[in-house]
Amino acid sequence: MVQQPLPAEYTSLTDDEVSSRIEAAKAKLGKRAVVLGHHYQRDEIIKHADFTGDSYKLAKHAAAHPDAEFIVFCGVHFMAESADILTTLDQKVILPNLAAGCSMADMANRFQVKTAWKQMGQHLDLSEVIPITYINSAANIKEFVGRNGGAVCTSSNARGALEWALERGSRVMFFPDQHLGRNTAVDMGFDPDEDMVLWDPFKRMGGIDPEKLKKAKFILWKGHCSVHARFTVEQIEKARKDHPDVNVLVHPECTLDVVNASDLDGSTEFIKKTIEDAEPGSTWAIGTEINLVSRLGQEHPDKTVFCLDPQICPCATMYRIHPSFLLWTLEKLAEGEVVNQISVPEETAKWSKIALERMLEISADPKAKKA
Ligand code: 13P
Ligand code: SF4
Repeated sequence: MVQQPLPAEYTSLTDDEVSSRIEAAKAKLGKRAVVLGHHYQRDEIIKHADFTGDSYKLAKHAAAHPDAEFIVFCGVHFMAESADILTTLDQKVILPNLAAGCSMADMANRFQVKTAWKQMGQHLDLSEVIPITYINSAANIKEFVGRNGGAVCTSSNARGALEWALERGSRVMFFPDQHLGRNTAVDMGFDPDEDMVLWDPFKRMGGIDPEKLKKAKFILWKGHCSVHARFTVEQIEKARKDHPDVNVLVHPECTLDVVNASDLDGSTEFIKKTIEDAEPGSTWAIGTEINLVSRLGQEHPDKTVFCLDPQICPCATMYRIHPSFLLWTLEKLAEGEVVNQISVPEETAKWSKIALERMLEISADPKAKKA
């Protein structure tokens, strides 16, 4: 779906006009609409959200409001799709800007995943391979996982999901984020060289020697997040040199080296909670998206909070949810016109719902790895 340009009347409003009209439209819609905001959204969106959270928490919120006619999801496409799958047929999920995608989710498409599965099947007993997809993936990838006995996971329950998978099979195929897969498996005690292989979807047999494949416990997909790929061990070393008392807290989409060099890692909700619970006067270098880091700094002036990367690192697609788009969608809904609805086809929704419900059954475990 392509995002149409905003009607001209929405492009010349002041920030205050946009904000007060959003509140007016929300008041008009009342309980008919619930606005969800991911932690990476800009402050001008977060202040209008009824609920904020990481992917796991927002998926739960979407499923927990069956009375709301509209779920307006200020996040990215895969989050809105998941919300549509988890809500009832009568509910409508709205993504304020259809161009808000996720470059990591785009790194695995259904054709590539099915091809990989088939090629793997020439060397492995597929009934022993449990597919786990990160929620950052298209609905038809979740469908594939649901059909093949697997589950969806988020950064807050990835370990539970991998344990769940290994109770049901002897290997895990994990996509699309190699780093979340590797970091989680290492956290469980597996060896990144001995127990894992990296499947490159652009190479035959993923570029993996079949003998190595047969020995692997984890087949990781060659995908990554370009925002989190920016964080380096050198940045952590510099932060420690400049601030000897610093605590380094990163998202598990960072590389293994970065996670190993950090003090703590976890989902965006875990990052937020950790800063909320931190001692006044403590210092925190955070390796995640800049909107969240800046907000945490503003909300906790008694603590020193800064981004590990001195060059700011926004998620460009999250940023596409401009307040004017939120205003436009809310005012249209209030006028009785549904715009930007995200609707997953029935057959895809049926199987992906199974995989997402398995995810919701595996509890979030925002544990502190090295606390
Ligand atoms: P969380 O589930 O931790 O919010 O992460 C989502 C995401 O896209 C991080 O890049
Ligand atoms: Fe996707 Fe990375 Fe943005 Fe998260 S931060 S939504 S993984 S591109």
